[in-house]
Amino acid sequence: MKNQTSLEELEMRIRDVSLDLDREAMRQAARRVVDYVVDRIANLRANPLGRELRREETEALLREPLPENPTSFEEVFAKFARDVAPNTIALDHPRFFAFIPSAPSFISILGDMLTAGANVFAGTWFESSGPSQVEILVIDWFKQILGLPPGASGLIVSGGSLANLTGLAVARHAVLNDDTRKAVVYLSDQAHTAVDRGLRILGIREEQWRRVPTDTQFRMQPEALARQIRQDLAAGFRPLAVVTSAGTTSTGSIDPLAEIARVARDNSVWFHVDAAYGGFAALTGRGRELLRGIEQADSVVLDPHKWFYCPIEAGCVLVREGRWMRETFHILPDYMHDVEREEREVNFCDYGLQLTRSFRALKVWMAVKTYGIARIREIIDQCLDLTEYAARLFQQSPQLEIVTSPSLGVFTFRYLPARFPSGLEREAVLNRLNDDLLVRIIASRRLMLSSTRLEGRHVLRFCVLNHRSRKEDVRTARDLILQLGGEAERGTG
Ligand SMILES: Cc1ncc(COP(=O)(O)O)c(C=O)c1O
Repeated sequence: MKNQTSLEELEMRIRDVSLDLDREAMRQAARRVVDYVVDRIANLRANPLGRELRREETEALLREPLPENPTSFEEVFAKFARDVAPNTIALDHPRFFAFIPSAPSFISILGDMLTAGANVFAGTWFESSGPSQVEILVIDWFKQILGLPPGASGLIVSGGSLANLTGLAVARHAVLNDDTRKAVVYLSDQAHTAVDRGLRILGIREEQWRRVPTDTQFRMQPEALARQIRQDLAAGFRPLAVVTSAGTTSTGSIDPLAEIARVARDNSVWFHVDAAYGGFAALTGRGRELLRGIEQADSVVLDPHKWFYCPIEAGCVLVREGRWMRETFHILPDYMHDVEREEREVNFCDYGLQLTRSFRALKVWMAVKTYGIARIREIIDQCLDLTEYAARLFQQSPQLEIVTSPSLGVFTFRYLPARFPSGLEREAVLNRLNDDLLVRIIASRRLMLSSTRLEGRHVLRFCVLNHRSRKEDVRTARDLILQLGGEAERGTG
């Protein structure tokens, strides 16, 4: 080999550069971060909900060439605190009642910090027997909460989207051996788009989706499902799965799980439940009653980063016949023979898409152990009560119409002006007024709501999942809605 660098030259060239800081510098930097997190939480209620900048503004603040040279951590951190963090909406603010709130507990935040710091590779038993055991335990707790049998398995993933995709991938493998020709999937028009996206990725095209009609409360109709399955079988289609929602995002509606489970079982169709946020209500007595039938699911999705107070990202998929997860995903390449273990020693990389995966179960485990499940149950119960309280309070105002009553922490409503036209124009006027009201609510930065469309009506959603939300927050929300609604009605403000 000509022109080869000599050993001596190489020895001279290698300068032992690393990214390590000395201990004191690490502690100081970490203290800045921890202080920031603690102060952020302590000041949440007093602070506005946050803000959104336009792209030109964020470009002006943050655009820079790839930095060749170092900047002090102090300076980088200050930039984050000044120009990045304020330009967010706080999903954990006690008056964030929009979309699906995410309000992590402090202990679970610490769990996430530890996950990064401990740098666990949670893909194989060989590299993470302790963490894998913790994940097995967390999954067993979730199985217990939902009433799934001991043979069920699961996987902690990034969130509901990946959990739905994973569950449906397992269904495709178990029911169809991955051959999607003439396969059909049943879902309602209330299913989360994560399901649509998952089906698309799995090669199940839109013409293979059967939108099962819903009732007046946006719940899938089991008789319509049974009818559709019969028709499809007669026409030579291959029913794969029925995808139900246990807590739709729009209205919190719960499909009639027990009845659908029966239809699915009678027809050998996979029964999937997207309980991304709603599933944790099973911890409470009334939630368990509402979710009756979830224990019969072939696969279930739960998001600890929603109603289980973990930081983003944390989702979970559970599969009744656990072996199907491994059968769907297990592949043994040449370079992984060292880590192949007997089944008791779980390689979580064989249960889903990710090989290199973080130890997300840690934040769940630490929080559940530290707070105790009784406390979390009490908080979920409190959220159910607060939702009911908010709806009752709103009902007392003639300007507010409850459109769908509370279900799993969500209700919908709209503002009614004192005078508005009747007939066809009525809905258009109401829609415009409520759209305008929402813009005003968001601009106030004192309250965050979101909207949805229900059979053409533009309605506002109110979703209480935050352990920090209080009666006073609900009252403040009501007062502000009435004030801003009045201004929208008069075209002032
Ligand atoms: C019912 C439901 N399913 C799935 C998802 C998607 O979950 P993620 O955003 O964690 O991917 C959501 C998100 O809000 C949801 O509400």
